[in-house]
Amino acid sequence: MMEGYEQAAADAAERLASAADLDAVADVEREMLGRRSTFTEAKRRLGDLDPGERAAAGRRLNAARERVEASVAAARARLSASGRADRYAAERLDLTERLPRTTVLRRGHFHPVTQARDRLEDVFVGMGYTVAEGPEVESAWYNFEALNIPDWHPARGSFDTIFVNLGESEEVMLRSHTSPVQIRVMENRKPPIYIVAPGRTFRADTADATHLPAFNQIEGLAVDRNITMGDLAGTIDEFVRAFFGGEVKSRLRPSYFPFTEPSAEFDISRPDGSWLELGGCGMVHPNVLSNCGIDPEEWQGFAFGFGIDRLAVMRHEIDDIREFVNNDVRFLSQF
Ligand code: DAH
Repeated sequence: MMEGYEQAAADAAERLASAADLDAVADVEREMLGRRSTFTEAKRRLGDLDPGERAAAGRRLNAARERVEASVAAARARLSASGRADRYAAERLDLTERLPRTTVLRRGHFHPVTQARDRLEDVFVGMGYTVAEGPEVESAWYNFEALNIPDWHPARGSFDTIFVNLGESEEVMLRSHTSPVQIRVMENRKPPIYIVAPGRTFRADTADATHLPAFNQIEGLAVDRNITMGDLAGTIDEFVRAFFGGEVKSRLRPSYFPFTEPSAEFDISRPDGSWLELGGCGMVHPNVLSNCGIDPEEWQGFAFGFGIDRLAVMRHEIDDIREFVNNDVRFLSQF
């Protein structure tokens, strides 16, 4: 014969199997297993039985109780898994953009400055160079000292450096040129070295038609035996021809940079016959080679650095360099 609690346990198992939510499970649990529940009541009545019957009745009671506990656990597992799935379904955001059939889809493209950078890399890779990179936040050692610009040197002032409030004052900065990548490469590689290093550079400049406080440069470095100024001039000539085609000419003018000796600036010819200054170059200063553990008696090098944004301005005949950072798609889509 079935005891009352056994019937109740069978009913409870059924209710749990069809429970619609976790609250319903908790209700059944309280009713069956709680302090004033069916099982607690049944257990109390065990005391009224003859000691001889008590053990068998206790086992029956426990078996029924365990069945209910297992059903509660199963119902919880079922509902919390499906509850989560329901919640995810309800919270789902459909981000698919459905365009009307009449919309003309326009394919995007790289920013003109990125295009110029890619082309530059291609031209130099074609000449046997590899591409190197360095961090945008630099220490005074890489940005200045190793480049033969000690802290008393007036050239430091000409860089309008943006310092970062880290460590000692004027010790950490946003790199003001890509030249520190020369140092990082020479520290880590043995010559011969032929690298270009494009990347972002920063100066405390107010933006105007020809300046941006965050701009892009490309650095070049060649270190080998018997390198001369003639190799540098030939390389720049070759690069200008490859980048612009036949019409654009280049020239070198004597100049000064602490990290090269001799130093020069190089210009390219504009269609109207005037010259546009593109960047600086020169023969790597012996101190710079020594700073990187390279013997200047055995190895020589040339280096150059110029502005990529300026090159893109020149190539596309743009009046105002700030157009590059206004993010106006009407402007950018022309290139
Ligand atoms: N770092 C210089 C600047 O930003 C440009 C430069 C000049 C780079 C001469 C060079 C170099 O590698 O040899 O003004």
